[in-house]
Amino acid sequence: MSFEDMDVNTIWQDGEFVDWNDATTHVLTHSLHYGTGVFEGVRCYDTERGPAVFRWQEHLDRLFDSAKVYDHDIGFSREELTDATMELLRREELGSCYIRPIVYYGYHELGVSPGDTPTNIAIAAWPWGTYLGEDALENGVDVMVSSWRKYNSTQIPTNVKTTGTYVNSMLAGEEARGNGYVEAIVLNGQGNVAEGPGENIFLVDDGEIYTTGPAQGILEGITRDTVIELAREMGYTVHDQAALARGQLYTADELFFTGTAAEVTPIRSVDDIQVGAGTRGPVAEALQNRFFDIIERRTDDHDEWFKYVWTNPPSSLAPAQAWVNRPQNGVLNYRLNHPSAPLWPRLAAGWRVCSEKPWYQLCAVVTDLKWCRKSGVSPIQRSWSVHDQHIACAGLESRVKCW
Ligand SMILES: Cc1ncc(COP(=O)(O)O)c(C=O)c1O
Repeated sequence: MSFEDMDVNTIWQDGEFVDWNDATTHVLTHSLHYGTGVFEGVRCYDTERGPAVFRWQEHLDRLFDSAKVYDHDIGFSREELTDATMELLRREELGSCYIRPIVYYGYHELGVSPGDTPTNIAIAAWPWGTYLGEDALENGVDVMVSSWRKYNSTQIPTNVKTTGTYVNSMLAGEEARGNGYVEAIVLNGQGNVAEGPGENIFLVDDGEIYTTGPAQGILEGITRDTVIELAREMGYTVHDQAALARGQLYTADELFFTGTAAEVTPIRSVDDIQVGAGTRGPVAEALQNRFFDIIERRTDDHDEWFKYVWTNPPSSLAPAQAWVNRPQNGVLNYRLNHPSAPLWPRLAAGWRVCSEKPWYQLCAVVTDLKWCRKSGVSPIQRSWSVHDQHIACAGLESRVKCW
């Protein structure tokens, strides 16, 4: 889906929430010319407990590591970036979505050396589904070994996410797509298997699992780490620093990709040679099932991997059914429990659900009527057709309006 077709209005840029169309940068931006930006790709899942960002802390850690390599001063703390991102997702009422933080050298001068060029930062988010197609998750994808090799860490650090290095991914991926394949596998300078252009790779042989490690020039994916941990919990032996020769791709029992975008995607052929039975293998399927159970929060396991967009109600609020988020512009955002969300308490008598979504926002007018559901829309311009409620929450009392 193109950005034109999306109903997202806001981007967080250098500390401010700005209109999507105003989140621009100058054509002489340093990182546009030299690829000196660093970024992350993060998923938020619309879980049974409301939207939850998957492994946010690990993505933040990698963003800060990436910034360190290129001497970027991010200028915001982890907490500030977390608050900004959660607020962005709440403002845009996003459920399943992709989050793209980017840190880059901005506009000042255009030598290769950034000199005094400031570091800028933006965080955007938009709705997002399956990356390689719904069918890919179930039936697997056909891939080819690219003629492009992965750069190695003596040239550019491979363990951080640099904007400029994605030309390597683009060339490999486009070569594959141009030849009728869904995705590429990239070998490293030594001719061993590195990874996909935006994915890590796993191989199954004789019931044991192998995945390449940083010594092969990979980006150590956060999904890779997740799958390694889940596989070990499930009793599999995982070799996570494997050196894999190209030929092993053709004789493996199973192959699959992992990545924030690709999640866990089976590979059914490499260079037109069938992998295993030519369909999703049992190990990939078992890991997919476990992975999707976790990310959809159908289990309590690994709750530490999730950052819920709407904060959980403090227990001291019982029996209140709403709770307060960080005040913004003198306005408090309240979150109500949805009666159909099985893991949450039911609505108290007197409350009503005004939205079909598993979460629901109330506008609490604290000091004035400036804020409404989307920034820039004055509630005075809206028709307040629904009832007023009076709620007490965490010691704060407010007149709230509901729509
Ligand atoms: C080159 C490369 N390898 C692996 C991955 C997978 O990493 P993650 O699971 O953190 O998304 C990505 C995704 O960004 C990537 O670009």
